[in-house]
Order: sequence, then structure tokens, then C-alpha cells
Amino acid sequence: MKKSKLERAVIFVTGGAGFIGSNFIRYMFKNTAFKGKIINYDKLTYAGNLANLEDVAQKYGKTRYVFVKGDICDYKKVFHTLKKHAVTIIVHFAAESHVDRSICGPKDFIETNVHGTFTLLEAVRALWLCSPDKRQATDNKQSYYRFHHVSTDEVYGSLGGTGSFSETTPYDPRSPYSASKAASDHIVRAYFHTYGLAVTISNCSNNYGPYHYPEKLIPLLILNALEGKSLPVYGDGKNVRDWLYVEDHCCAVWEILRKGRPGETYNVGGNCEMKNMDVVHAVCRRLELARPAAANPALKGRKYADLVTFVKDRPGHDRRYAINASKIKRELGWKPAHDFEGGLKAAVQWYLENGGWVKKIKDASYALWLKKNYRRR
Ligand SMILES: NC(=O)c1ccc[n+]([C@@H]2O[C@H](COP(=O)([O-])OP(=O)(O)OC[C@H]3O[C@@H](n4cnc5c(N)ncnc54)[C@H](O)[C@@H]3O)[C@@H](O)[C@H]2O)c1
Repeated sequence: MKKSKLERAVIFVTGGAGFIGSNFIRYMFKNTAFKGKIINYDKLTYAGNLANLEDVAQKYGKTRYVFVKGDICDYKKVFHTLKKHAVTIIVHFAAESHVDRSICGPKDFIETNVHGTFTLLEAVRALWLCSPDKRQATDNKQSYYRFHHVSTDEVYGSLGGTGSFSETTPYDPRSPYSASKAASDHIVRAYFHTYGLAVTISNCSNNYGPYHYPEKLIPLLILNALEGKSLPVYGDGKNVRDWLYVEDHCCAVWEILRKGRPGETYNVGGNCEMKNMDVVHAVCRRLELARPAAANPALKGRKYADLVTFVKDRPGHDRRYAINASKIKRELGWKPAHDFEGGLKAAVQWYLENGGWVKKIKDASYALWLKKNYRRR
């Protein structure tokens, strides 16, 4: 992609008020040569919160950052927003993303992850591909039109004790979440092969870091531990995940936008396989250093590790994920800048220093819960 065009582009980020999307927007403004504009298009579900981007809105809100509340399933709104802002790059994060929720209620996952991705692609096809001059622009290797789809390693299914997922590993999703992401990956790829849309896809391992919604493992452990609540561990705690600090994922997406080839998929991972139990103990150790349990009245004399509680395993719980990220390293020169200890130290510190954010998120999700459950009273 031509650098100058990319650096001045209008980027449409879906799901920019969520965990990774908000980190990506901040990363683009703070850490890259990007000088263009970002349209953050987000429905603000329970997982999306504008508190994640208060600093960005304050600094760039009048010039280079625009928030639009909208659903990716709303074709008219997507189309008009893309047209109004002359968008040429899409980075698609918006999704229902929590596996446990997909087990209790898969409908929203199919709706947003499958139908929403299809709707976005249709709007883009109508805008970018339907006039002959634009068609040429996307065919050109130097094209500055790009649809980047953010996906997960969970599409590949579960591994045994050895091996890792590469870009050619056959898809074998097991949960409604991973099945919906797998479906969306296939649809995105179809738009490349069928219509010549300039797409790229990244399949990334588990992220952690600032602004992570408290239902996910690492923030849940940190916040529960600080409050002296139990630290739930599924099954025997030996399920393995490959962890990546969120800023490294943001950097990978930026490198794919800069140097990735249309039609290609890139696996992104931290080369950091850990059993869930080891993650729990690493969080406890880190908290003992940063805020010792002995000085935390909520612990009532216990250590953080005393709070570990084994709970019934999740149905269809994949045993092990591991990512082979050699393609993005070799072809695009990306590699993670954080190891797990360094990333975890930064994440724990962030949660300790951002109690105000945690309160806002918890208050907002409580308000949402009340609205949903007491609508008719
Ligand atoms: N979190 C991870 O570890 C991880 C790993 C690999 C890939 N991914 C993928 O990265 C993306 C972002 O994940 P995340 O953890 O930031 O998710 P998240 O749940 O924190 O954020 C999702 C965002 O999408 C928005 N959204 C949901 N439905 C929408 C709709 N219909 N229209 C518009 N906006 C909508 C939400 O309001 C929220 O802001 C997802 O596509 C996910 O599959 C996540």
C-alpha cells in the first residue's frame, strides 16, 4: 500500500469502543505515523464503552476522531457513514466476543459476527467496487482500499499436546463464538476471490491489557483478587492459551495495513503458551508485588493464591491453542515487543491506577442489566 495514502486515509474502525478496538485507535494516534482520520463505528453493547476513549476524544475529537453510534447490521447507516466520510480503509473489530455468552445465547453472535460482517462487505462492495474507476483502484497492487478483518485463533479448533496453528490449518470451530468467527472469515475471503475486494485477515491469540472488559480471564482475576473474591478456574486449570499483550496485536494490524498483501491471512500470537493455572498464579504473584495481600483488608489475612476456586468446566472447552506466527514475522517484520511478565506487570499496574474506569464500566453494565431486566416494570 502506498504509504502517503495510507497515512492520510480515513479509517472506519468497527467496534472501536471495545477492548482491542479502543487500544487500536489510541495506538494509531500515539504510536504510528498515521495522520488521517478515524471513524469509530460502534453499537455500544455491554462491551463497548466511550470511557475507553475519553483521552482520544478530548485530544482529537474536533479534528481526526469521530464517533458514530451504529450497528454493523444496519446497511443504510453503514453505507451512508462510509460514503459521507469517504472511507477507504476498514478495520473490522466489532463482534460479540465472549465464548461463555455464546454458549448461553448464540443468536447475537450469528447476527453480529456473521450477518454484520456480511452487511459491511455488501456496503463496501457497493461503494468501492461498483464504479469502473474504483474497481481499477482495488485491483491495483498499490490500492489504498482495504478491508481488514480481525479474527481469532479459535477458528482452528483445539490442539493436542504438540503442534501449532498455521494459516493453512483447516478450520474446526467448536463454540458458537468460534463458529460465527469462522463463518465471517470465509465470507470475507469469498469477497476477495469473487469480487476482487482488497481484504486481509488476521487470526490472533488471546489478548490482555488495559481496557479489557472485566468478564475476561485476566481482568477478572485481578479485580476479584483485589476485592478478596474467589478466582474461578475452569476444570483442572490445564487448558492452554497463547497470550499476547494488546498493544502488540494493534501493532500487527497496523503492519498488515501497511505491508500485508490483499487476499492474505496472517496469524498473530505471542509465542507465549500458558496453562490457565499458571496465568492465575502469575497474576497472584504480580499482585503480591504491586499490592501485597497482607496490606489489603479485603483479603482478611489470606494470600491472593488462597482465593483460587475450581469450577465446573465450560462445555466444549478447547484444550490447547498455540499460534505459529512465523508468516507475519517473516513477511512483515512484526514481532511482539512484550513478554508475558512485562505485559502482565503493565496490565496489573493499569488496573491498579484506573479504579475510576473500572467503576464506570461496572456502573454502565449494571445500568444496562437493569434496563434489560426491568424494562416492563
Ligand atoms: N479479545 C481477544 O482476546 C481476541 C483475540 C483474537 C481476536 N479477537 C477479535 O477481536 C475483535 C475485538 O475483540 P474485543 O475483545 O475487543 O471485543 P469486545 O467485546 O471488547 O468489543 C467488541 C466491540 O464491538 C461492538 N459491537 C458489538 N456488536 C456490534 C454491532 N452489531 N455493531 C457495531 N458494534 C458492535 C461492541 O459495542 C464493542 O465495543 C473481535 O472481532 C474478536 O473476535 C479478540
